[in-house]
Parts: sequence; structure tokens; C-alpha cells
Amino acid sequence: SLPEGLANLADFEPAAQARVDAQAWAYLNGGAADEITLRANRAAWDAIQLQPRVLRDLAGGHTRVNLLGRTLRHPILLAPIAYQRLFHADGELAVAHAAAAQEAGLILSAQASIDMQAVATPMLADATAGPLWFQLYWRDDRDFMRDLLQRVQAAGFQALVLTVDAPVHGARDRERRAGYQLPDHIRAVNLGGRKKPLDLQPGQSVLFDGLMPRAATWREIDWLRATSPLPLLLKGVTHIGDAREALDRGVTGFIVSNHGGRALDTLPPTAALLPPLRAALGPEVPLLVDGGIRRGTDVLKAMALGADAVLLGRPYVHALAASGALGVAHALRLLRDELEIAMALSGCKTLAEASPELLW
Ligand code: FNR
Repeated sequence: SLPEGLANLADFEPAAQARVDAQAWAYLNGGAADEITLRANRAAWDAIQLQPRVLRDLAGGHTRVNLLGRTLRHPILLAPIAYQRLFHADGELAVAHAAAAQEAGLILSAQASIDMQAVATPMLADATAGPLWFQLYWRDDRDFMRDLLQRVQAAGFQALVLTVDAPVHGARDRERRAGYQLPDHIRAVNLGGRKKPLDLQPGQSVLFDGLMPRAATWREIDWLRATSPLPLLLKGVTHIGDAREALDRGVTGFIVSNHGGRALDTLPPTAALLPPLRAALGPEVPLLVDGGIRRGTDVLKAMALGADAVLLGRPYVHALAASGALGVAHALRLLRDELEIAMALSGCKTLAEASPELLW
């Protein structure tokens, strides 16, 4: 059941914290290092002000958007978040039921703790569900990757999201202080196989001699494009030069993200990263954004700055921890309602109309 008196996404946090141990709580809510980017993401949406238009005829308005050739009921997708069974026994499966019920998109983490086919089923069974995408981290084993891509496609996922901003872990001070470790009973069940152990000589660097030689480069983007027919989006591109190179290599679109402030600290907030990318890439390239989206007004601001859709991260996991599928569905309903209210009060009939003119 739902806790009483939930008026917005932040209201799920106390109930969530009461049900999650301190280690997992640090993992979920923490960012990298001084958490400057984590705070900046929120502060940037707050600092953007709206400039409403009044007395317009908004009859027949709606929140629908077009994304990768489909019309969605609204522009909200759930961000890939690893190991959701840390927060609720039903983990990613509860989230998929909620996303389907609330017509939201879902991007399943490579490190999901529930079988990908089980998660896909409720989304694919519901004609009004949003898109179902699979997030990848590169693993330096092409046979393994080929098999994974085939399983993802066979399970009905409609696009791939390669996360490129976290080839190694960020410096997660909050997790380290809390002593966070993944419990043995929670695993990345869709990855199977075993990672090759690092083969280091004395004096070599774990990062530069061990991990980075295995990380994806542009060569692996070419390989992914050649190996899977699914559209490929990159998550975590911030530089216009990288975005252009990706498009030249057949990448479909981007998720403008700083990994929720968990990878490299002191990156700009995503509200600042988005507009120059939109300006440089033109109106047609699919651009989604995440990081600190908490309110319907944040969604509207993101759309006004040129996003085609947004990803919601930590708040849906708070709702999952607080009340499972029901909680996540309620959180999505609250955010959708807030978006409609924000549109109605700012004179915005459709999200296609949302432009920088909506901003003060
Ligand atoms: C993440 N994120 C993430 N991203 C990704 O591409 N693959 C992953 O497995 C994960 N795992 C993950 C775990 C946890 C606990 C968090 C909080 C985040 C990043 C995520 O997709 C997204 O970019 C941010 O969470 C968005 O910011 P907000 O909405 O949380 O501020």
C-alpha cells in the first residue's frame, strides 16, 4: 500500500529510507566525490524560470511526443538503474509493471537483477506502454557481446543504449564511507559469464593497464552498429565533437547525461549541456536528457531546451523501495499530472510547441 500524504516525488524518500539499509541508501543517493555535479543538476532546473502565455486556447492539448518513429503518450522514460532488487524484492519486474501501467518508457540496465525477458513481458503486453530499451556497458569479449545483443533483440527490446561516461567507477566517497558492497544474492543475472581477471605486471596501473584497454572506443561503436540492427543511442556524450563523430558512425541519438553526478564530478549540469548540443545537431537528432528531473516543470523546461524526452532516475527507485510497483506507478502519475498542470498554466498546448520562448 502507499504511504499517506504523497504529494510529489520527494515525498517517497522518507518511506524509502526507512526500508533500505544505510549501505544501499548511500549507493542509491550518492554521487561522485564532492557531489558538485549531483547538486548542480537539481540547482540548474530550479534556476530556470518559466514565462507563461495566457488566454490561449488549449483545448485538445496533450503530452504526446514522437520518438524514434513512435508516438508516446508522454515524454517520460525510466533511466537504467542497476541492481533494483537491492530496494525491493520484485526489483525491475515491479518497475516494468508500473511503467506499462503509466505508459512510460523503460531502459533496462545491463546490470539488472532480474531476467530481461521477465522484465520485457509486461511492457510488450501493453500496447500503450512506452519504449523498451536495453542499456549496455561494453565488455571486452565479442562472443559474449554478440550473444547478449541477440538475447536483447529476441526479448523484444527496441533500441540499445551504450553508456559511455563510466568506463570505470567514479570516486564514490559516500559509498566508500558507508562500506557499500553488493550483497551476494543480488547479481547482474543477464550478463552471466565471467569477466577475465586483470593480468597486471608489478608497477602497472589498474586503470590504465588493466581496465582501460578493455573499454569501448570508436572501433566498438562501429562493431555494435555492424552487429545489431537495433537503433543505438549513446548515454553520456557531452562534447559536440563526440556527438558529430557518433552520428558519422551511424549512432541514432543521445542521452545527455552526467550519470546523475556519479561518474566525473564537476561536469556541468545537464540543463546546461543540452542547449548547445541541440543547437549544433539540429532539430532532427533524438536527444534525451536526465539528471535531477523531479517536477513536471523540470520536464517542461527540458522540452523547452530541446529535449525529445526525459529520463527519471533516483525518484522512481525511492518509490519502488517505499511501495513496489504501486509506488512507481503513483510516482509516474504524479509527474505526468504535474507536467499537464505546468503546460496548462504556461499556455503550452503541445510539447512540440515548447521552445526557449517559454523560459524567462
Ligand atoms: C545509475 N545510473 C546508471 N546508468 C547506466 O547507464 N547504467 C546503470 O546501470 C546505472 N546504474 C545506476 C544506479 C544508481 C543507483 C543510480 C542512482 C544511477 C545513472 C542513471 O541512469 C541516470 O543517468 C541518473 O540516475 C539520472 O539522474 P537522477 O534522475 O537520478 O538525478
